[in-house]
Amino acid sequence: MVIGKQDHLAVRTHEKMVEVLKNPDAPGPEVHYYMIRGGSDMRNVTVWEPGKVGDEYIKTYGHYHIGQLDETYWFLLGSGVALQQKLVEIDGVPQPDRVAEFKAVPVKSGDSLYMPPGYGHLVANVGTTYMVTADDSPVDFGDKDPVSMPGHADYEMVKKMRGFAYYVIEHNGAPALVKNPLYTEIQKEDFGGLPVM
Ligand SMILES: [Fe+2]
Repeated sequence: MVIGKQDHLAVRTHEKMVEVLKNPDAPGPEVHYYMIRGGSDMRNVTVWEPGKVGDEYIKTYGHYHIGQLDETYWFLLGSGVALQQKLVEIDGVPQPDRVAEFKAVPVKSGDSLYMPPGYGHLVANVGTTYMVTADDSPVDFGDKDPVSMPGHADYEMVKKMRGFAYYVIEHNGAPALVKNPLYTEIQKEDFGGLPVM
């Protein structure tokens, strides 16, 4: 029996990720991560491929939430580096290239991480296995493309800046950060103990 027409599975392809990669010309896996969208009730599950594109670890695209929406991620398998950044606002309008606060947070299986309202977020898989998370963000199946690009999330500012303020790369076999030169200002930074190249 088939229940409804909701399509819960979405994949993020290399073709789409090229927009936000440090090394857009480097080869990568056909699919970078898999999303099973169940919304706040059933939860959403994300599975990252291990590996890198050039020297940058496989990551989620990254987005800002529309409105005051927060979210919690539970890390079920693997290890990663989560990035959070809040933009400078002028008269309530976020400035895509100006960051009020940037944070890098190393995470591993068993951890949870709160994503406060107003903070864009992405997570890079820095381990050698799949990384798996569950999260409680809502999914509105009335959206145009609710599974792959849900309507509560804004991807355009990340696209415009070709990623977040820092990229998570491998340096001497361990995670490190490299600044994205397109950002013009970062007022407050917390690198979570990671080296900056
Ligand atoms: Fe989110």
